[in-house]
Amino acid sequence: MSIRSSPLLPHILRYQKRSLIGTTSSGRFSTFASPKCAASDPDQLKSAREDIKELLKATFCHPILVRLGWHDAGTYNKNIEEWPQRGGANGSLRFEIELKHGANAGLVNALKLLQPIKDKYSAVTYADLFQLASATAIEEARGPKIPMKHGRMDVSVPEECPEEGRLPDAGPPSPAAHLRDVFYRMGLNDKEIVALSGAHTLGRSRPERSGWGKPETKYTKDGPGAPGGQSWTVQWLKFDNSYFKDIKEKRDNDLLALPTDAVLFEDPSFKDYAEKYAVDQDAFFKDYAEAHAKLSNLGAKFDPPEGASQETIILHKFNQRSSWQQNTINWKERALGCYETKDSSRIRKGLGGTPDKPLPTNYFLNIIISSLVFWQF
Ligand code: HEM
Repeated sequence: MSIRSSPLLPHILRYQKRSLIGTTSSGRFSTFASPKCAASDPDQLKSAREDIKELLKATFCHPILVRLGWHDAGTYNKNIEEWPQRGGANGSLRFEIELKHGANAGLVNALKLLQPIKDKYSAVTYADLFQLASATAIEEARGPKIPMKHGRMDVSVPEECPEEGRLPDAGPPSPAAHLRDVFYRMGLNDKEIVALSGAHTLGRSRPERSGWGKPETKYTKDGPGAPGGQSWTVQWLKFDNSYFKDIKEKRDNDLLALPTDAVLFEDPSFKDYAEKYAVDQDAFFKDYAEAHAKLSNLGAKFDPPEGASQETIILHKFNQRSSWQQNTINWKERALGCYETKDSSRIRKGLGGTPDKPLPTNYFLNIIISSLVFWQF
């Protein structure tokens, strides 16, 4: 079924055109879908993550959520400075024009799954929701914990979508050169190309979507989820290093290896990493988690500019205890040291940070300093 004829389309478009004003969990207004889109509300992000976990349990949609996050972020072009022209994790993939790009075939189904969560947590941006869903899917499939930050702003109109052709082809004439063209443009390197390709340990390829893979195999004919397609691994809902083992061994015709997968064991530089990951799952998990986090931030415009880490969110909740302060300062200022006094400033500077530029290497320490001073105050 084409996207244009999908019964889902009116539903999606209705939400895209919805009111530009929403409320946060604390009842304040937020312009989450306006051109100057505010960052996601931390409380809502936390609850949305719990809802994503429930969705995963019910529908086994881990793979397509990972692909959705990757395809939103993977349009990034490091040679373009302006946002959103540079592409990347900005929620543009919710628009029909981008969903219709050939590389995105089938991703309308992922949007359909996430839309009720977006509706429930209107103060979470699409850009954050896509990346949160992808990282949560990896973790829930028993993969590594991804060190995420949030606060990505959304583009607001379809005209801000990137042009077609920024994502990789599975069967280009020269797969290694093509992967480097595309991933280097995103600012990623050989190690990150190989590690990220390991996400194909999850999921299936469907000929009716991408044109690649068998209609079904012994590993996919019974689902879980919608049956069919061809997987790269036997247990395609478990995140582990079997993708690298299976491609290396090439012994099962029911398992898929796209030309861009196979080249990871052919190109000398890629091969070093692929061989390592095939024997060392810990090394794969470590490199994957780092590369995934980097991918999820590509091109994103954060509010606050450095993004909200888990620590920032904890501090936000902590500070909510004091309602009179909540009315006068926003959570971003609190996270960045609005309780700065002579004492905290001295400690922070002694450790190499400044009030408006907290210690870059130890964000958590900044929060502890702010918290201690807060209690004295
Ligand atoms: C290296 C270049 C890449 C190419 C050429 C490529 C290509 C493809 C293709 C053709 C499919 C099948 C889509 C379908 O028929 O439904 C697919 C699926 C998938 N891709 Fe990639 N991909 C690449 C990189 C990545 C990366 C970097 C990630 C994540 C970090 C990723 C995650 C996935 C997942 C999870 C699926 C399974 C989706 C599902 O089961 O619904 N891919 N990819």
